[in-house]
Amino acid sequence: MRIRRNYFEDLISKEVDRLERDSRFSRTRLYIQHGKVSVFVHCVCVAYMSCAITRFFNLDLDVSALIIGALLHDYFLYDWHDGELCRKIHGFTHPFKACKNAKEDCELTPVEENIIKRHMFPLVPIPPRYREAWVVCLADKLCACEETLRGRCGGKKMKFAQKMLEHSIFDDDD
Ligand SMILES: [Fe+2]
Ligand SMILES: [Fe+2]
Repeated sequence: MRIRRNYFEDLISKEVDRLERDSRFSRTRLYIQHGKVSVFVHCVCVAYMSCAITRFFNLDLDVSALIIGALLHDYFLYDWHDGELCRKIHGFTHPFKACKNAKEDCELTPVEENIIKRHMFPLVPIPPRYREAWVVCLADKLCACEETLRGRCGGKKMKFAQKMLEHSIFDDDD
């Protein structure tokens, strides 16, 4: 059965709330990824795009792992435009830094870990092991191209990411 858009939007939204409450995920709001797009918006867009691909091809995937892996795939938690010498190899090293940070804050399943570590294939030339990791690897490239060429991302995923950006669990009264 094809997953509904509302269904995966709800899942992403719940996972963003959980991560903002239980991890350092809200720090991704502070760093720029491509163009004017923050790491937070980029990761929400990649999660959205990964679900959209899953829906389009009617794939039977572990949607929870897909979303968590996509949200944490760039969880490196530094400004990669700060000019430090080691940033020259950021493209190769950040999946491992992201995975290390994620493991400090959350318990990852093997699928989630593989999504994070292998999302830079083929630049990091070890291919993903799971179909979920292939989908996030593709979604990341589509989003990165759009963000680099247009300076922003667009469409339904951007509207959704904007909603996530404006919503903060820290504003909740309870
Ligand atoms: Fe990345
Ligand atoms: Fe990315």
